[in-house]
Amino acid sequence: MSKSRILVTGGAGFIGSNLCRRLLEDGHTVTSLDNFQTGSAQNHLDYLKHPNFTVIEGDIFEPLEEEADLIFNLACPASPPHYQASPIKTLQTSVGGVMNVLDLAVRNRARILQASTSEVYGDPLVHPQPESYFGNVNPFGERSCYDEGKRCGEALFYAYNSEMGVDIRIARIFNTYGPGMRADDGRVVSNFIVQALKNEPITIYGDGSQTRSFCYVDDLVDGLVKLMHSSIDRPVNLGNPVEFTVRQLADLVIELTGSRSKIESRPLPSDDPKLRRPDISLAERELNWHPGVALAEGLTRTIAYFDEGLSRTRPRLRGRQSNSIAVGRSLPHAEPIVLTLPNGFAKAGLSNGHA
Ligand SMILES: NC(=O)c1ccc[n+]([C@@H]2O[C@H](COP(=O)([O-])OP(=O)(O)OC[C@H]3O[C@@H](n4cnc5c(N)ncnc54)[C@H](O)[C@@H]3O)[C@@H](O)[C@H]2O)c1
Repeated sequence: MSKSRILVTGGAGFIGSNLCRRLLEDGHTVTSLDNFQTGSAQNHLDYLKHPNFTVIEGDIFEPLEEEADLIFNLACPASPPHYQASPIKTLQTSVGGVMNVLDLAVRNRARILQASTSEVYGDPLVHPQPESYFGNVNPFGERSCYDEGKRCGEALFYAYNSEMGVDIRIARIFNTYGPGMRADDGRVVSNFIVQALKNEPITIYGDGSQTRSFCYVDDLVDGLVKLMHSSIDRPVNLGNPVEFTVRQLADLVIELTGSRSKIESRPLPSDDPKLRRPDISLAERELNWHPGVALAEGLTRTIAYFDEGLSRTRPRLRGRQSNSIAVGRSLPHAEPIVLTLPNGFAKAGLSNGHA
């Protein structure tokens, strides 16, 4: 694969920082552009001083001037408490911001990949969800700033491709988890792990029978890279098709952490999807991609990450006391990891549904 200048918007977030690391490992020159709304430069710590890496503080809702051959547009808060905290800002990012990034792609003649989402399917009436399904989305509710914003993002990608000839890729990402998530992220995996590590009640919304499929972040990043280097200019589902109920996830987290937590039920938030599982036959056929990390293995790695982070704020549940945080693997040329609390660990505990 030839070496490229790659811009990752939202590069300081959970998926973005894992993607930046992978792209540097692959030998590319990488720029992370981020407004740090939900991400943090701390997510880049283990490769911050890499000679091929640049971090820019910037907002995609402002005009952009970067040079790039490839653009991954990941900028957008992904967890419900974060995108619902300022729905207007979420729509600015998802619509005006996406137009700015597409205009940048036009000026650079760059290929551009949009991080879209399974939320474009809403509360699906078709299961599992293939790319051909148009979705069941509420345009007028607390999730609509994100769901409809992302749907408009796809429409903008379509329009720039058909009218301006922009070389587009669209990944419909399903629930992804792994090291680099914020402890206060409000998504189901991080919520359950943090609650279990603290021996606090594990909060399930509804009866826990709603299903989700969970993709480990390394698998997802591999899919994003393969999609970027493919020739598929229509939406592609990326996610793990193995389906679990939320209750099963809670039980597994309790088992893997050895926690004393009990499960508590709370009222279901509005528009919480009841079923969610990707049909990934397109990605399997066209990208030769299939997620390889089983849930128990991915959870074990993620629990270790959160356990290290939380050990800064409370006595460890297991093992020895440590003052360091394993933010991620180190790359050659990178400076040693600085001992800093990862973003979100200090105020862990926000929750809102089972995103
Ligand atoms: N994590 C998932 O399960 C998942 C699922 C579906 C889709 N996605 C999509 O993947 C992308 C990354 O998600 P994530 O989980 O890493 O979320 P995240 O919140 O950790 O990362 C998003 C990053 O974008 C930055 N950002 C937000 N608005 C911005 C703006 N206007 N300008 C510049 N930077 C901005 C944030 O500061 C953050 O660093 C998002 O676009 C999200 O919609 C994620």
